Amino acid sequence: MAGSSLPDRPGSWQVCAGCDRELPSSAADARCPDCGGLLEVRHRPPVQDGAKLRELFLSRRGRTGRLDASGVWKYRELVLPEAGADDVVTHPEGNTPLLSRASVSRFAGVESLHLKHEGHNPTGSFKDRGMTVGMTQARRVGARAVACASTGNTSASLAAYAANAGLPALVFVPSGQVALGKLAQTLAYGAKTLLVRGDFDECFALVRQASEKLNVYLLNSVNPFRIEGQKTIVFEALEQLLFDPPDWIALPAGNLGNTSAFGKALKEARELGLIPRLPRLACIQAAGANPFARAFREGFVRPHRVKAETVATAIKIGDPASLDRGIAAVRLTHGVVTDVTDEEILEAKAVVDASGVGCEPASAASVAGVRKLAAQGVIRQGDRVVAVLTGHILKDPGLLLDYHREREPAPARANRPIEIEPTLSAVEAVLSRQSP
Ligand code: F0G
Repeated sequence: MAGSSLPDRPGSWQVCAGCDRELPSSAADARCPDCGGLLEVRHRPPVQDGAKLRELFLSRRGRTGRLDASGVWKYRELVLPEAGADDVVTHPEGNTPLLSRASVSRFAGVESLHLKHEGHNPTGSFKDRGMTVGMTQARRVGARAVACASTGNTSASLAAYAANAGLPALVFVPSGQVALGKLAQTLAYGAKTLLVRGDFDECFALVRQASEKLNVYLLNSVNPFRIEGQKTIVFEALEQLLFDPPDWIALPAGNLGNTSAFGKALKEARELGLIPRLPRLACIQAAGANPFARAFREGFVRPHRVKAETVATAIKIGDPASLDRGIAAVRLTHGVVTDVTDEEILEAKAVVDASGVGCEPASAASVAGVRKLAAQGVIRQGDRVVAVLTGHILKDPGLLLDYHREREPAPARANRPIEIEPTLSAVEAVLSRQSP
């Protein structure tokens, strides 16, 4: 579908990060046709200055129009200005809460900790923000089918938005390594689901070949339109803080699409005058899937590739596709990359869950990472921190139940169900043994 002949509406175009070649926004190439570099979407800057944009975005709060109701398209001037209300494939998505819970702040060792809960999106993860833009673009370029490789959340989101757009969906997921909730969603929304006997990195290599060969539009986060949508996590969090930027934004890092999106969002927010200064990014990886953290520790002198292993299956990725963009985001924001063990992830998850907020394991990595960085003095106690919870607690019910039922010896945090006879005396016996 390279060089699709759809007439381009003015306002946006694509640029190769490798060789600066420009392509029209209607080009459907997954990578630069000259050098294979990752593409980036650029927009003509909005006519409004920063103050006017802030006013505009704040004025759209609570509006119910097709575009204003979406927490992605309400920032359309910065996402895909030329998309009209009829083009857009929306659920709607976004408008996720910024929460604070004293128990989580105490655990993390940071007084001002906000949790940006992206699990409140329609399919339960932040992927919907990128997918609404990616699927809109798929329709604009006349795609006949869409595809992705996934650790589960992208596939669930792609399946739902493809159903909404009326497009066939093809997904590649690593067999036996996708959390139950995500696989169930992907199937239920109707995607053709291939369980690949390999890991995510192999799935990704396969989907790239297949999408080229079969002329299917690729909707992994290397797709630059997905990045445009994911930028709105940052815009929305900034808006919720009334554009007084936090000191840090912490997020789990896997394939580095989201890290790239956060870097681009912050760069644009600063350049447009939406915010006066840049927060620092804290990118958190699982210790068993930490190529980005390894590279950071060495000053990004060379890429790393690992055989990924972690309980946080969403970020079980050994060879991140958006490494260069991720590095640029960390450099731009004077950010840091660190890693946390599975035990630290599960400990943080237990605290987030017990606060009533709840999240999936990969999401808890951001809280575990904040705790680690605060203990190291990198994040200072008085710093204002936003930690992104990327996915919903129900995404990974298998892990929750294993965790609560089967781990022996039972960790102190496990809340085990108690089976009883259907009698009041059985209830009384339990309550007399334990505080309810
Ligand atoms: N958190 C969750 C819940 C995720 O599902 C992912 C990625 C990430 C964090 C990391 O984001 O890859 O942009 O660095 N999930 C992808 C998927 C890989 O297929 O669902 P990233």
